[in-house]
Amino acid sequence: MKKILLPISLLVVIFLIVLFVLIPVKNKPQKEVDTPPATEPETPKSWAEQMQEKYPYFVTDYETRYQSYQQQHPELAEEDVITYVNIGLDQEFYTNTKPTSFLNSNQILVNKYHYVDQNYVPDNLVALPTTYAKSGISLVEEAKTALESLMAAAQAEGYRLHVTSAYRSYDYQQNLYDRYVAQDGKEAADTYSARAGSSEHQTGLAVDLDNTKLDYTLFEQTPEYTWMQDNASKYGFILRFPKGKESITGYQFEAWHYRYVGIDLAQKIKSSGLTFEEYYARYLDPVVLS
Ligand code: DAL
Ligand code: ZN
Repeated sequence: MKKILLPISLLVVIFLIVLFVLIPVKNKPQKEVDTPPATEPETPKSWAEQMQEKYPYFVTDYETRYQSYQQQHPELAEEDVITYVNIGLDQEFYTNTKPTSFLNSNQILVNKYHYVDQNYVPDNLVALPTTYAKSGISLVEEAKTALESLMAAAQAEGYRLHVTSAYRSYDYQQNLYDRYVAQDGKEAADTYSARAGSSEHQTGLAVDLDNTKLDYTLFEQTPEYTWMQDNASKYGFILRFPKGKESITGYQFEAWHYRYVGIDLAQKIKSSGLTFEEYYARYLDPVVLS
């Protein structure tokens, strides 16, 4: 009897193993194969987001202005649309004006959209000697030092430069502008003379040059002008109102008017091929950098 019982109990054990262990394991629901989670279809980037990625100087608040300026000027590249609107060119000159930033800094921008107050007088104004300037003229000291280096270099190469105008007070500019308006009318005067508060001569960082022989208005014809084209930026000066950029600067070409911005900035502006307005609107304007 014992002999039979043993195999039977063995069978029972095997049966129980199959019943409670193997069958459940086999039927255990298979772990689901990992399928990648269904990706949400990406929402297409808005025009503003795309522009922002491409142009760091895109200002979100100006989106509508960019779009309407682009519609008015389909010929313009998108970076120019952004730059010009940043400058303010989608609005008439002398509209939407604001007080300028960077008072007493080489980066200061004074133009038909950015003004200085009537009582603004730059720090560190110093008189220029009559050896190279008309009498009674002054300039910010750092600009004067740079100008003297520039003049020494020019002279060493046989060129002669002379300053006919530099710092001008608000009241001086007011008289000058009024005189031009009386002479040529407001529309014409606005193409070559700044209204008071909007002249960068009031920053003490601008100079008008002649070559001591010809009137400053003929400076373009002089070898000194060619020398300045090649060398001004090495001393921190830029040609402020270039030919062909009248609609951007708001002024006719002035071969004689140079602006001190410091060597580093002058070289960057020169190699960019941009006007100071454009360069500022892309890389310096606190509105862009905020
Ligand atoms: N001639 C320049 C634009 C001025 O009046 O400041
Ligand atoms: Zn000038």
